[in-house]
Amino acid sequence: MRRYWPFGLLILAATVAACASASHSGTSGRADPHGDPGLSTAQMSKLLNAVQTASAATSQAVLVEEGKRLFESTTLSKAGQSCATCHPSGGGVNMAAGIITHPTKAGDFTGPRTPIPLWGVAHTAPYTWDGHVATLSQQVTNTVLTFFSAGKTQPASTTAGQAAAILAYVSTLGPPPTAFDNGTMSAQALEGQKLFNSVGCVECHEGPFFTDNKLHVLGVPQVGNSDDPGNAALPGAFNTPELRDVKALAPYMHNGIFADLPRVLDFYSGNREVGIRQLTGPEKDAIVAFLMSL
Ligand code: HEC
Ligand code: HEC
Repeated sequence: MRRYWPFGLLILAATVAACASASHSGTSGRADPHGDPGLSTAQMSKLLNAVQTASAATSQAVLVEEGKRLFESTTLSKAGQSCATCHPSGGGVNMAAGIITHPTKAGDFTGPRTPIPLWGVAHTAPYTWDGHVATLSQQVTNTVLTFFSAGKTQPASTTAGQAAAILAYVSTLGPPPTAFDNGTMSAQALEGQKLFNSVGCVECHEGPFFTDNKLHVLGVPQVGNSDDPGNAALPGAFNTPELRDVKALAPYMHNGIFADLPRVLDFYSGNREVGIRQLTGPEKDAIVAFLMSL
């Protein structure tokens, strides 16, 4: 049976997660660019208001240019990396450099998380694989606080200005144009598109970015001895990823368990947890051809 988690529930889940995470502040571990910044709920909401004010105070064009500079700067972060090390061209992914292996702090789970593409990121809430971050503003502010060396010590107004700029920049990122956009998909890919819709992929991967912005329990296997719990409030649930440029995202799923798209289709075929019927070899090939054209 499919399980749907309405967005309202998710906000509740995010609140629960935020309250629970307050107790982790003060623990230290390996750097996670998207780690828990350890601010109280009140401090964070004050900071998010400052981000909103900074966004409104400056023209979008200036913010976008400044945001790109910050996103690509290798001098602001702790390890001499930039956001673009793991998110190349702004929206792409560098799997070799970008996989974050947990635990990254005391009490954390064990297991890898693959980088997520930022194409259309303004439309793909909630954020991170377990969806515990409700807004892009919050996600970007977390990265500034945890990834930039001065993130936690610099004045809040500086953090807010940097977050506003990066937020404006990443909001401009659209996927590279493909056969899907150009209307030049092969006959096999067109057949795959029909199957994608008729067998039920589209129920979760819907809209221009192929995500329903919800969490689902699919039963994706753990890698090795990992114990990634997914969403803290909804165990085993992960955030439906967008599928634009999915050909460039191997290995697949939150933990990279599937090396290529045919293996993803083998996982879905006949999967009763997800509600997908058994697919024939040619059907799987056609859906892969469709995915390759996105
Ligand atoms: C070491 C690699 C690495 C670096 C550096 C990095 N990221 Fe990420 N990024 C990731 C990974 C991995 C995830 C997925 C994390 C998860 O779900 O647990 C992610 C997720 C995100 C997301 C959420 C996307 C979504 O749709 O859920 C955003 C936004 C983001 N990163 C922005 C940034 C910004 C801005 C910076 C720089 C300030 C940055 N990242 C630096 C690896 C990285
Ligand atoms: C019930 C909702 C649901 C349905 C139905 C569904 N998916 Fe997914 N899909 C998800 C979720 C959630 C994930 C992330 C799971 C994880 O990482 O643990 C995912 C992950 C993926 C990925 C990996 C993307 C990446 O960046 O790693 C691909 C490819 C994909 N799905 C294609 C399909 C295809 C093709 C179908 C139909 C055969 C399908 N999905 C049906 C929810 C769904």
